[in-house]
Amino acid sequence: MEEYRSIESILNDEFVGKEVYIRGWIYRKRRTGKLIFVVLRDSTDIIQTVVEKSVVGSEKFKALDKVGVESSMWIRGTVRKEDRAPTGYEIHVDDFGIVGPSYNFPINKDKSDEFLLDNRHLWVRSREMNAILKIRSTVFESIHKFFRENGYYETHGPMFVTGAVEGGSTLFEVPYFGKKAYLTQSSQFYLETLIFSLEKVYTVAPSFRAEKSRTRRHLTEYWHAEAEAAWYHNEDMIRDEEEMVVTIIQNVLDKRKKELKLLNRDIKFLESIDKPFEIMKYEKLVEFAREHGVDMNYGDDLGADEETMITKNFNGPVFITHYPIEIKPFYHRPDPNNPKVVLCHDMLAPEGYGEVIGGGERIYELDVLLKRMEEEGLNPENYYWYLDLRKYGSVPHSGFGLGVDRLIWWLAGLDHIKYAIPYPRTIRRLKP
Ligand code: 4AD
Ligand code: MG
Repeated sequence: MEEYRSIESILNDEFVGKEVYIRGWIYRKRRTGKLIFVVLRDSTDIIQTVVEKSVVGSEKFKALDKVGVESSMWIRGTVRKEDRAPTGYEIHVDDFGIVGPSYNFPINKDKSDEFLLDNRHLWVRSREMNAILKIRSTVFESIHKFFRENGYYETHGPMFVTGAVEGGSTLFEVPYFGKKAYLTQSSQFYLETLIFSLEKVYTVAPSFRAEKSRTRRHLTEYWHAEAEAAWYHNEDMIRDEEEMVVTIIQNVLDKRKKELKLLNRDIKFLESIDKPFEIMKYEKLVEFAREHGVDMNYGDDLGADEETMITKNFNGPVFITHYPIEIKPFYHRPDPNNPKVVLCHDMLAPEGYGEVIGGGERIYELDVLLKRMEEEGLNPENYYWYLDLRKYGSVPHSGFGLGVDRLIWWLAGLDHIKYAIPYPRTIRRLKP
């Protein structure tokens, strides 16, 4: 069997004059008389190839002339340097075979965003999506790497659950054999149970939110990297998150510069990000917002527009801590020095992107938790197992949830979160 090479691997002087086999899909095709120029793409890159009628024979030449872009094929040929070719090299074709022909590929230059979303199963082949998907893969890889190297065990919670974590208004209800179940909003509570066995745990899983808002940052199904650690206080968790985010950015810069460039990402900005990230109290954030012309009062939660306006003025990620107790879910631990605020943190990404992480210290005292649940009108019976954790050897602990698609949205510098995930789910989109 011939050795097929990746296109990326032959784009260098070492291969000039050598015969190679490559395979992939027709990215562009143009005929001028007895020549056909095929730009072939594979998962790694594109290369221009030249097919000459006199070399391949008129039958093969005709067959190639007939098929359209996205036909799959193999090629044998000799590499040449060619400055006018899109990637600087060209293959003079000696032989080729069409594997799966394609006619009238539906996607061409002037298609609307909506059309591309309806045809996402085909649009994933585009160079933009290819670059985004590679960055995405590197981000997931880096998340696992960070956790594994820092003593966290990977674990898994259920996706069918019986109660809310982040408030009832965004719960998806699903029928469950005559009972009501919900799709999980967060694996946090299950991770909390698991720290009593493993101390430091993490999971990377989907979370579901019945988000009715149409923003550039909300999906109804998104990928959530969540961690929980026994004995950790708010600041300890913040330090791990900072380390994780820096690790991810470093990996993306090491491995995905080419893709970032293709997406016209401002790479210098990413390179400038370093530890420690700024930590700002919510109180201070309100001042900062007002100084920058955002109409915000103490006690207001950040809406999508405010997040955009505020974080445009950040030079790097910023942790916001000590939010007013009213605007955070019941499980956050009130600050013993000022119980009107909680020991939590959100990490806001700069450049207008906004919240990417939410986390904090959990209430670990049974009586405090029961009081908070009562204030929020929650039925303790629905959370019996969560309360048990506070009865049998409770410990201080903290955790966080990173919205992975949001992080990719920011790192790749995308316009909308729907470009950060292969098959986005939003209020209006359920296919393909
Ligand atoms: O801030 P959230 O709601 O916090 C939690 O779910 C905690 N229980 C996590 C934890 O401590 N284990 O969500 C965490 C992150 C957000 O910061 C955001 O990045 C992302 O999840 N997120 C979404 N991403 C995309 N679409 C949505 N609708 C999202 N909702 C939250
Ligand atoms: Mg949040």
